[in-house]
Amino acid sequence: MERWSSRLVFILAAIGSAVGIGNIWRFPMIVGQNGGGAYLIPYFLAVVCLAVPLMILEMAVGRHWRSNLVASFGLAGRKLEVVGWLVCLIVLLILSYYLVITGWTLAYLVFSLLGSSVSFSAFSSSLQPVIYFMISVLVTGVIASLGVNMGIERIVSFMIPFVFLILLALTLFSISLPGFRPGMDFFLRPDYSMLSRPEVWIAAIGQAFFSLSVGMGVLITYGSYLKADADIPQSALIITFFDLLASMLAGMIVFSLVFTFGLEPAAGAELAFSTLPRAFGLMPYGRVFSVLFFALLFSAALTSAISMMEVNVAAIMGQSGASRKRASLFLMILLAGIGAPSALSYSSLDLRFYGSRILDLMDVSVGTVGLSFSALLVAIAFRWFISNDVLAGETHLSRRQLSAVSNLTKYAIPIALLMITVAMIM
Ligand code: PFF
Repeated sequence: MERWSSRLVFILAAIGSAVGIGNIWRFPMIVGQNGGGAYLIPYFLAVVCLAVPLMILEMAVGRHWRSNLVASFGLAGRKLEVVGWLVCLIVLLILSYYLVITGWTLAYLVFSLLGSSVSFSAFSSSLQPVIYFMISVLVTGVIASLGVNMGIERIVSFMIPFVFLILLALTLFSISLPGFRPGMDFFLRPDYSMLSRPEVWIAAIGQAFFSLSVGMGVLITYGSYLKADADIPQSALIITFFDLLASMLAGMIVFSLVFTFGLEPAAGAELAFSTLPRAFGLMPYGRVFSVLFFALLFSAALTSAISMMEVNVAAIMGQSGASRKRASLFLMILLAGIGAPSALSYSSLDLRFYGSRILDLMDVSVGTVGLSFSALLVAIAFRWFISNDVLAGETHLSRRQLSAVSNLTKYAIPIALLMITVAMIM
């Protein structure tokens, strides 16, 4: 079995998985809509009390058994392998629409490089989203097929430093913009009355798991390639710090731009692909800014997509004995089929299901409900079905820290996730 060449590359790969579209466009908007600075309270609580402990547990399980996700579930309980496959399926479905958006970021990177301004409606009603989606599937699949050392490691080693360099450069620039202060006001001014709303807490918990890529088996898979002497709790804190940093910087950049150019702080796809390009069109050196911004989005999305791909590649290789190349090829074909409706949903075909666009439906179903359900399965299987010795042996936490992590993963996380899964289904 392959191993990361150093702890640093493991941390880079995990940061690559964590920092993604979720940080750059989802986080700023959720903050703006859910009480600004006040939202940061439930968000930090969710990160520290729920996502980080589960992250530590996943890494400990991954390194302890050095198995793929399905086999790890099988080791937790003989009949649990099928649950492992269910989590793989949820990850695959999330990946299928995540790659559609990755395709959009790639398309806008190409448009920025060519200096052509293409409106989002013109782009999305053409067949281009499908083409760029296929390219994203191909790139992700090829990198996964090259393996941990030759593929994932090499990509993250240069893309993650690049992502943070761009984030820093864009932040410095946005501080100099006149809209910085009003932007920060919108982004961070606390509205504490929002804290009494349960949906704000649900949004915070969902975003914490999504953003840190926790509860999907990514860290079990990546952890299985981790060397024996790497410090797991410290790695978890470093990964979390950089994920939070990326989210905060993205918020500063996005809202400085929006307020400098008097644009509407809209949500999601609207913001990144129509609002911000308008700002780029109005500003000096807008083209450079636009190239950097979409290069950032694409790199962040790609390294997250690779981690979801690896969960499935490792599971198929491990369970069927197929080679890495075959497993990757199989998944690429499968993804092209599953993701096609999402890729077409914004096109003139306007694919909808019960009135919602397929892509939006995927985001609320598998991306939100599916994700918390899968995190619930992971927490229960690896905390209730296996002995606490695994966690103790792999983490070398003090007695108090260990009891905190083990109680949070055993009780607080399943209860919180169960509640939000039920609340979201209703
Ligand atoms: N953490 C990624 C983001 O914030 O965009 C998304 C993600 C990656 C979710 C990997 C789940 C996952 F397994």
